[in-house]
Amino acid sequence: MKQFAKTGAVLMMSAVLMLTAACGGGGSKPAAGDAKSGAAAETNTSTAQKDGDKKITMGFAQVGAESGWRTANTKSIQEAAKEAGVELKFSDAQQKQENQIKAIRSYIAQKVDVIAFSPVVESGWETVLKEAKDAGIPVILTDRAVDVKDTSLYVSFIGSDFVEEGRKAGKWLVDKAKDTKEPMNIVELQGTTGSAPAIDRKQGFEEVIKENANLKIVKSQTGDFTRTKGKEVMEAFLKSSKSENKPIHVVYAHNDDMALGAIQAIEEFGLKPGKDILIISVDGIKDAFVAMKDGKINVVVECNPLLGPQLMQAAKDVVAGKSLPKRIVTKEGVFPQETAEKELPNRKY
Ligand code: AHR
Repeated sequence: MKQFAKTGAVLMMSAVLMLTAACGGGGSKPAAGDAKSGAAAETNTSTAQKDGDKKITMGFAQVGAESGWRTANTKSIQEAAKEAGVELKFSDAQQKQENQIKAIRSYIAQKVDVIAFSPVVESGWETVLKEAKDAGIPVILTDRAVDVKDTSLYVSFIGSDFVEEGRKAGKWLVDKAKDTKEPMNIVELQGTTGSAPAIDRKQGFEEVIKENANLKIVKSQTGDFTRTKGKEVMEAFLKSSKSENKPIHVVYAHNDDMALGAIQAIEEFGLKPGKDILIISVDGIKDAFVAMKDGKINVVVECNPLLGPQLMQAAKDVVAGKSLPKRIVTKEGVFPQETAEKELPNRKY
């Protein structure tokens, strides 16, 4: 991480910090911090600083508060920052790229030690990332990737393999449909247009369902990762399926919130989610496990939002001049309906 290495003094102070932490210096366990919703305003989270510690300041530009997953992700980052003694400057971009760019510029102006963010969409980041690099501030991506030619614009990307999540969802369906001789009409609720999880989950799912010619995506639209839009889009799908006399057999939702919105729409339409229409979802929030336990979701592919501790460790490492793996992939599972009751008490988000 030559390009981001700061002065020798900073490295030495960071080494002292790490040593202190390793010797049991960490702060007291924080109270659970709620996710910031609504305001795009920036908030600071500070913790008592131990004598001699060089406190790392991190600017974090969050996507928004669009889903249960995001709320858990924000909480994990805020709690982990407190635990690690990292001063966190946090901003909520309300799902708008221009707000994230503004926040990153403000962190550059404030000369933070590290910038981290979960990019709302994949493209359009070159200019601001170059500004951070020119200012000598390392950038860590969490959760979502960026599409840039020059990958030296960020030091590491910590998060899930969304293509693989799409494949896991597809594999479950291919297996479920293996003895079916009839065509199965799938409707897809996509995440935010242009976002990495929407692009990749679609790609992985399509790649796998190609194996079975009976499996066809007949409609696909964005529900922007929210419950409200998931419900709205599903209502429209159901209406047109009725007028076209083309039944819907499967919903593939790119996240749990949209699946939960779709479930409401299906019930209001007089059908049984999980029985009349199979529901496949991604994330694994508690509400989805409750719906699965009630027989309304058939399978959930896990996407882990608890990235805070890994992010704080990465920030400490990069400030200490250590090189980070370019890609840190989160480990995740698949939960079919029959596992829901047993797994529900273990869910942490
Ligand atoms: O980037 C991760 C995705 O963003 C989650 O699957 C979704 O719930 C969130 O809004």
